Amino acid sequence: MANPMACGCFLFISLFLYFSSSLALTDGEVAYIVRRQLLTLPEDGDLKGDMTFELDFHIKFENSRLKRAYVGLQAWKKAIYSDPQNFTANWDGPDVCAYNGVFCAPALDDPKTTVVAGVDLNHADIAGHLPVEIGLLTDVSLLHMNSNRFCGIIPKSLSKLTILYELDLSNNRFVGPFPKVVLDLPTLKYLDIRYNDFEGSLPPELFHKDLDAIFCERQPFSLHHSRKLWQFPSFGNCDCQ
Ligand SMILES: *[C@@H]1O[C@H](CO)[C@@H](O)[C@H](O)[C@H]1NC(C)=O
Repeated sequence: MANPMACGCFLFISLFLYFSSSLALTDGEVAYIVRRQLLTLPEDGDLKGDMTFELDFHIKFENSRLKRAYVGLQAWKKAIYSDPQNFTANWDGPDVCAYNGVFCAPALDDPKTTVVAGVDLNHADIAGHLPVEIGLLTDVSLLHMNSNRFCGIIPKSLSKLTILYELDLSNNRFVGPFPKVVLDLPTLKYLDIRYNDFEGSLPPELFHKDLDAIFCERQPFSLHHSRKLWQFPSFGNCDCQ
């Protein structure tokens, strides 16, 4: 049987441990970051057309996919409000593969072309929001931003990341209903959205998705076959025993 109180308490303790080890944002700062996101986000948070290539760069890129990633990463850097560890300090210039936390690899569909295959910002303690241009990172299969201070909503443009395999948004300040955009990610196998300020219930479609695992804040446990269930205690319908 679900015990929402136990789950809530565990969540509270986890949040407390988390925030005591990082620079907590004040409510005013959160509101400021959310306002910034609202000002830049198109109405539905979706990416219209190909906004990249209207820009005429003097910078030379190894290929157009790295250029697109550059535009996405620069927009993301602009959406950062505080970066106390200077994690993104070297996010400058065309060599995106040298940026902290950015991993390049041969493209799955074209092994001769190098692309940005992953972004790992785990534990960077960055405050900011996700810009709509995150949808330009179309070659990433791994997107980790666990234990930061990202606020606001998950933009719909995330659905452009059609080969995304792992998405870890846990330990941030994301808000809004369950980010249904993740249901549109055809290859997603690993999803962690724990410890955010999401509200409402989990959509039943989530459990029909072919995810390998859904986490409980205690133990992942078997659902059926080899699939595991991750739990989302922030939704209050936690089923951990
Ligand atoms: C980050 O950069 C700023 C400005 O250069 C510097 O004052 C600060 O000490 C740096 N912080 C870390 C953790 O390196």
